[in-house]
This record gives sequence, C-alpha cells and structure tokens, in this order.
Amino acid sequence: MDSTAQRSQAPARQRDKAQERTKDRVTARAASKKAMTQTSEPGAQSNRRRNPNKPYNDIDLSQWKDYDHVLTDSLWMMESRTKRDGHQLDYHGNFIPQIANQMMLRYTKAGDTILDYFLGSGTTAIEAHNLGRKCIGVELQSRMADYVQTKLSELGACETSQVIVGDSADLQWTGGKISQALRAWEQEAGQFAFLHPPYDDIIKFSENEQCLSNAESTEAFLDGFERVCQQAYNFLEKGRFACLVIGDKYANSELIPLGFYCMERMMRVGFKNKSIVVKNMTGNEKGKGKTANLWRYRALAGGFYIFKHEYVMVFQK
Ligand SMILES: C[S@@+](CC[C@H](N)C(=O)[O-])C[C@H]1O[C@@H](n2cnc3c(N)ncnc32)[C@H](O)[C@@H]1O
Repeated sequence: MDSTAQRSQAPARQRDKAQERTKDRVTARAASKKAMTQTSEPGAQSNRRRNPNKPYNDIDLSQWKDYDHVLTDSLWMMESRTKRDGHQLDYHGNFIPQIANQMMLRYTKAGDTILDYFLGSGTTAIEAHNLGRKCIGVELQSRMADYVQTKLSELGACETSQVIVGDSADLQWTGGKISQALRAWEQEAGQFAFLHPPYDDIIKFSENEQCLSNAESTEAFLDGFERVCQQAYNFLEKGRFACLVIGDKYANSELIPLGFYCMERMMRVGFKNKSIVVKNMTGNEKGKGKTANLWRYRALAGGFYIFKHEYVMVFQK
C-alpha cells in the first residue's frame, strides 16, 4: 500500500476505534447496572465471594494489539485535559480525567467499586460512571461533596456513586461510613483505591483542621497521609490495586521529595509498589503561565529546576 493510501485510511481506522470505545463504554455501563441489580437480589453472589484469581480488568489478552489506547510506558506526556463526558476544569488541584481513565481500564472491570479518599471535584466518580464502574468518594469539604452530588445526579450516576463527607484519616468514624457504603452494595471491600492528597501545603484547600494541607509540618502531613493509606489498605480487596497521584515541593531552597515520602508510607502499611509513572503537568492550567518568566529567572538564579512533572504510582495489596 502506498503512503497516500495509508494516510487516507488512518483517520477512518481511528474513527472505527473511537466508535468501538464508545460502544465499550455503553456496554460497560450496562454491565455495571446488571451487576447492581444482581447483587441487590437476595442470595445473589456478593463481591465477598469473588474469586481473587479472576482477572482484574476487562482486557482480552488474546486481542492485546487492539489496546493501544491503554498505556504501558512509565512516561506520560498528556497533551491536554479531557473536557467532555461530564469533565471540566472546575477545581484548582483536580487531576486530569485521563489518569482515572487509564487506571480504571488497566486495573478494574465493569461493575467494580472504586474508592477515592480525596474526592475533590469528583473526577474519579465521573470517570467511574463513564466506564460503568461504581464509586465511593470521601471528601472533607461538604461544599465540594454537595457540588459533586449535583454533577453526579445530572449525569444520572446517583445509583452507582456514594459520597461521604469526612476525614479519610479517621479510621473509626469514616471507616464506619465506608463500611456502611460498601454494605449497601453487599460488599466488604472495594476493587481499586485512588489517593490524590494535597501536596502538603502547596494548595490550601480549606480552613478545616483535618485537611492535610493544614498539617503543621511535613512530618504531620505524612503521618495523616499514612492513616489514609491504612484506611485504603483495609478496604481494598486482596490482590487489587491502588493509585497515588502526588508531586514534590520546594521549601527553604531545598527539594522535599514528597512523592517518595508518600510512596514509603504506602509501603509501610503493606502495599507493594508496582510502578512509578512520571507524568507531565501541562494540560491542567487555567491560563498560560503569566509568571513563567519569573520562575525561569528564579530557577536560573537559585540553581533548581521548575517542576513540570508529577507521579502516578501504582501499588498492589
Ligand atoms: C488534590 S485534591 C483532589 C482532587 C481530585 N482528585 C479531583 O480530581 O478533583 C485533594 C482533596 O482532598 C481533600 N482533603 C484534604 N484532606 C482531607 C482529609 N483528611 N480527608 C478527606 N479529604 C481531604 C481536599 O479538600 C481536596 O478536595
């Protein structure tokens, strides 16, 4: 085939693949609905009795060449933020939906329950709905929880999502609420955990004392974060995966490797580290950095590099 013919076929092929993916989303949502009705019937098989050796995603390995939209490299250069399917850049500090999308495609199946311990503006819950997964999200700010509930009801995702207002580091009170939410779906544990905490004090999310961005020191932030890791570990099915999204910070002319400190706390509670992905940070900013020149000057003068990356780390229980 000559290169012109190849080029003219490429858009058609891409369109076919996109159509297939849309079809997959619809099928996944239908499967999730079916799973919901099945588990609410008396005597139905609950997630408690899931076979732990069953595959943890819907990828058909005999057709592995069809999954080029599922990333397997550890360097993610993402062009721009997905702004469709219910997603928008409406919260300073939210992650781009592609992170949730990639994690769910790779590590979960339709009908699975995703637990997000720092729900924020609900990116995980929206993407879970889009992909036919269920979601339980914990968020400290009731204002944000109400906002996410409104978005989820507009999307028709109320049946498959639950939002808890609480402190994720509170193993007793919030742990009780998570347990209750799981029991409402006849489950004791979820199938995936997201942890996207504040990056220490870089963005102050609220005045709430329990907000990890208000911890009085980095050590206190890490101790609080470790309690959330414990919570995430407790409510994750054995063999399943968790994702930590985190970046580093500078303080007093020194780099504080928050990412690695948090990674170490995940491992302290028992998680095995599976991967560290480095992701570019472009694509999530509101305006084109007016202060870019100032930062470049500061970097040249101070001997440091300007952060352009964050980490997407994957762990397994
Ligand atoms: C980095 S944002 C998460 C953004 C989210 N991934 C999204 O896409 O919208 C961190 C969130 O954690 C919340 N938060 C901070 N400390 C918390 C805690 N102890 N328990 C629960 N939520 C907390 C903050 O209010 C904030 O909304």
